[in-house]
Amino acid sequence: MAASPDPQSLRTLFAIQHPILQAPMAGASPVELVCAVSEAGGLGGLGAAALPPDTLRAQLRAIRQRSGRPFNVNLFAPASQRIDTAARPGPQAMALIRHYSEALDLEPPATLESPFADPEAQLQVLLDERVPVISFHFGVEAAHVQAIHDAGLLVICSATTVEEAVALDRLGVDAVIAQGSEAGGHRGTFDGDYREALIGTLALVPQVVDAVSVPVIAAGGIMDARGIVACRALGAAGVQLGTAFLGCPEAGIAPVWLEQLKAASPSDTTVTAVMSGKPARGLRNRYINEMEAIDEPLLPYPLQYALSGPIRREAVRRNLPDFPAMWSGQGVAMLEETSAAALMEKLVRESQALLADLAAAPA
Ligand SMILES: Cc1cc2nc3c(=O)[nH]c(=O)nc-3n(C[C@H](O)[C@H](O)[C@H](O)COP(=O)(O)O)c2cc1C
Repeated sequence: MAASPDPQSLRTLFAIQHPILQAPMAGASPVELVCAVSEAGGLGGLGAAALPPDTLRAQLRAIRQRSGRPFNVNLFAPASQRIDTAARPGPQAMALIRHYSEALDLEPPATLESPFADPEAQLQVLLDERVPVISFHFGVEAAHVQAIHDAGLLVICSATTVEEAVALDRLGVDAVIAQGSEAGGHRGTFDGDYREALIGTLALVPQVVDAVSVPVIAAGGIMDARGIVACRALGAAGVQLGTAFLGCPEAGIAPVWLEQLKAASPSDTTVTAVMSGKPARGLRNRYINEMEAIDEPLLPYPLQYALSGPIRREAVRRNLPDFPAMWSGQGVAMLEETSAAALMEKLVRESQALLADLAAAPA
């Protein structure tokens, strides 16, 4: 068993007050959320995967105008964005897309382009702007770890298995995010079949803690002080919460998504690749049910995302839950609608009280 975690390690590493990270969530973690969390003493995270370099630079400047605190910016690993431009949707998928498009008065997409920006150009912006913490999803490349460290900045990355965590440790990342299978959004899996990488937070975190030399940040299903304190007991130096922040007005998620989250139970979420081409956890809906039922290979990520893009966007505009990607973790029923500052204050206060209660309880 590894030594118990040093609660100071992430505070010192990131120069933050509370070792609570707001998960960077592409499309659901705007500047307002990042600043509110960092100002509350945690580490705000901008999910930048879809931001073109100029937009990204403008958002970084907006963050700096509002807050002098440290923050994290997240990119998707470049390897994940290399596209097979020859790929075409199968006839069954195309028939479904035509059917949905007709129902929504849309033209089916004629060409498919990645909805994500070039990660190499994005990374250059983060280096130029000296972003204090740079995080990656879907793995990280050795050259990028080196470039970030050469610039005197920090790099962290998600792992979904012990093997991935060890590989990241060997690459020299400053901390590993252990993403349990409860987590909302895309699985960070970058090595092997995602079905073998669906390991719950309770099992994943202590085994990662035992296997790596850097601080471990637990993610997946953590919604309140109980989850935070449990992860501390598992050996995590800190936690990363995504779904819990979707109830904050600063996240600015679409009304249809928020309404569905508020009505959801944990069994309403599923891990599916039919939205984007990569496995991700979200609320099951008609699109997922019908696309999963077809019997042909999906388009590779991120072209499958491009295929579903117009339908998803139009459904959001019309407030229809049938088609949008509504990412959510299994902790969804514990979601509260509250400001990010109030959520942070409650997480910190209740964690301290719970730790004290546990310390006072007989073993
Ligand atoms: C809406 C949503 C979007 C997400 N987008 C990203 C992302 O862009 N980059 C990333 O590293 N992780 C992303 N994640 C995953 C989070 O980093 C984290 O692993 C997850 O939220 C933790 O589980 P929880 O949602 O149960 O708190 C996303 C999660 C959600 C819920």
